[in-house]
Amino acid sequence: MLISLIVAMDESRGIGKDGKIPWRLQADLRRFKALTMGHHLIVGRKTWETIGRPLPGRQIVVLTRHPDYRPQNCADCLTARSLTQALEIARAAGDKEAFIGGGGQIFAQTLPLAERIYLTTVHTDAGCDVFFPTFDLSEWIELERSEHPADSENEFASTYRLLQRG
Ligand SMILES: NC(=O)c1ccc[n+]([C@@H]2O[C@H](COP(=O)([O-])OP(=O)(O)OC[C@H]3O[C@@H](n4cnc5c(N)ncnc54)[C@H](OP(=O)(O)O)[C@@H]3O)[C@@H](O)[C@H]2O)c1
Repeated sequence: MLISLIVAMDESRGIGKDGKIPWRLQADLRRFKALTMGHHLIVGRKTWETIGRPLPGRQIVVLTRHPDYRPQNCADCLTARSLTQALEIARAAGDKEAFIGGGGQIFAQTLPLAERIYLTTVHTDAGCDVFFPTFDLSEWIELERSEHPADSENEFASTYRLLQRG
């Protein structure tokens, strides 16, 4: 099973501010939906609370260390107490690619395991308070890259890349 990170970060590696994603990019949301459709989406409890609703076609697995935590408004969401357990849920279900959807804590723990990163670089500095971990681009091969200008639905220009560990 492939382990893939999917992230949008600004030019300072920022991914979140005040518990939210600080930009509005409809095209990136559509890309996220298309890429993750039919797969497991593993997220930290804080990120789950910003999503707050089921995502049709995706099996959400919420990471939390609290044994009694239940994601509200999502009867189908699963919880896992460790990364190993979350990945095992996806593997046992026969998923060929598990997506790690953040946030900062979860990206930091999963980057060493990741074989792919679906990376959106948002061409701004949004003054974030949560960051993607530093990583060495020379260890990654760029399989795909496309540029997307800002427009009425997309606040900032963005670069989409698919990176595979070299
Ligand atoms: N731009 C993007 O692509 C993107 C994507 C996702 C999120 N974000 C942003 O990132 C921010 C949230 O990130 P964050 O770092 O604050 O929080 P987070 O990574 O979403 O969640 C952290 C929580 O996950 C649980 N957790 C962490 N490691 C665990 C482990 N090994 N085993 C079990 N549970 C574990 C803990 O939950 P408990 O406290 O319940 O134990 C912890 O408090 C928000 O601003 C969000 O909008 C951005």
